[in-house]
Amino acid sequence: MYKCALVLAAGQGKRIKSDIPKVLHKVCGKEMVIHVIDTIRKAGIDDVNVIVGNGAELVKERTQIKNIEYSLQSEQLGTGHAVQCASEFLKGKQGIVAVFTGDTPLIKESTIKNLVESHIENNNSATILTSIVEDPTGYGRIIRNGNEVLKIVEHKDCNEEELKVNEMNAAIYCFDIESLCESLGKLNNNNKQGEYYLTDVIEILKSQGKTIGAFVTDFEETIGVNSRVQLAEAEEILKNRINLKHMENGVTLIDPKTTYIGIDVEIGKDTIIYPNNILEGCTVIGNNCIIYQNSRIKDSTIGNEVDIQSSVILDSSIGDNTTVGPFAYLRPETKVGKKARIGDFVEIKKSTIGDGTKVSHLTYIGDAEVGKECNFGCGTVVVNYDGKNKYKTIIGDHSFIGCNTNLVSPVEVEDNTYIAAGSTITNDVKEGDLAVARAKQKNIKGWVDKKGLKK
Ligand code: UD1
Ligand code: CA
Repeated sequence: MYKCALVLAAGQGKRIKSDIPKVLHKVCGKEMVIHVIDTIRKAGIDDVNVIVGNGAELVKERTQIKNIEYSLQSEQLGTGHAVQCASEFLKGKQGIVAVFTGDTPLIKESTIKNLVESHIENNNSATILTSIVEDPTGYGRIIRNGNEVLKIVEHKDCNEEELKVNEMNAAIYCFDIESLCESLGKLNNNNKQGEYYLTDVIEILKSQGKTIGAFVTDFEETIGVNSRVQLAEAEEILKNRINLKHMENGVTLIDPKTTYIGIDVEIGKDTIIYPNNILEGCTVIGNNCIIYQNSRIKDSTIGNEVDIQSSVILDSSIGDNTTVGPFAYLRPETKVGKKARIGDFVEIKKSTIGDGTKVSHLTYIGDAEVGKECNFGCGTVVVNYDGKNKYKTIIGDHSFIGCNTNLVSPVEVEDNTYIAAGSTITNDVKEGDLAVARAKQKNIKGWVDKKGLKK
């Protein structure tokens, strides 16, 4: 059976009090609307249409990597009206449309699959995802007669009896496409908020004798994020879910409470994560690594048996058995090889560092290609910028760069070379040579005495 999905993402999100559209607020490092899109796709629904309106350009820009279609709701007249705005997308289609809102980031792939399955098995025209919650304040209520679902009533429109109902509408549904499109035309805005509610479709379909189903799931999955408080609640729930998954996969989290792992991060077996670490984006960490306290690693690939301590690593890769930190800063496009050492207060930008090379302390390397088995003395600076342009430095294998060396780019230091401490290198150094580029030492005999400075 053909399946597609709509994601409602046009609303203003007044309650979140933000200059950016609500659905672009992040939970565990990823925009809420992208969580929803990714989960829909994982559940096997490829054809996704996002309804945009408020901040449409920004929402499109941020979601464009997901290769989806958009419908425009230029005036936000309610969730029913938002679905009406996707009528071009739905026109001529037969099958199932699953409808989501962009503010329910916790929905699980398995639940979407189960919802669709239950919809098909029961031959429903509409199936609503619901949950039971002690305090359903703010949510639409599922009104039943025995088992039969009659309608959904919004919190603000509930009478006293309806307010007591604690089965809430998750705002995730499956519809038969034709039945949905037909009923959309019959919506009105005679309610407390003066909006065209998608929820009213249920009562309309019911009045036509169509079958309505409800599929109950855990409340935790159905939280709708309307405010910053709910945003933090969602963060906490998803964080716990992610941490649990990694621990179940054989990763040690010494203090899960202070471990923040993005939803798309992968971590190998027997890796140990100490407290206060943030792993973001599409980071992949190998087996048997130790990530000591206070690191931030984003969009990076870390090999096996790597130790990292109190460092920031962005959009970089690190080979097996390398150690990083404490207090190293690896900026985008850095590639460090295997068995290398990047020590304290070392900053590396857009450079490759070969296998077995040691950059142990207080060094800056930018726009450089460094070979294998090199040793950098303390305080080396690659001078890659002349105030106008950036240039490249090349350092061959087995080079020894003495302490406090400046390598003024562009410059090439060939294999098996030595550079004397304190040198400022402006010319290439040929293979096998020692370069000394500093003033010769001169000692002035008895100077202290002569000046009368002796104590
Ligand atoms: C909605 C449901 C409510 C349910 C709750 C679950 C309706 C009328 N109510 O209420 O029953 O319990 O979600 O979280 O559907 N949007 C548009 N265009 C609009 C209005 C909203 O695209 O004109 C989008 C918003 O961007 C948002 C989603 O629809 O992503 C839901 O809108 P919101 O205002 O948050 O609805 P709730 O009041 O939470
Ligand atoms: Ca909502």
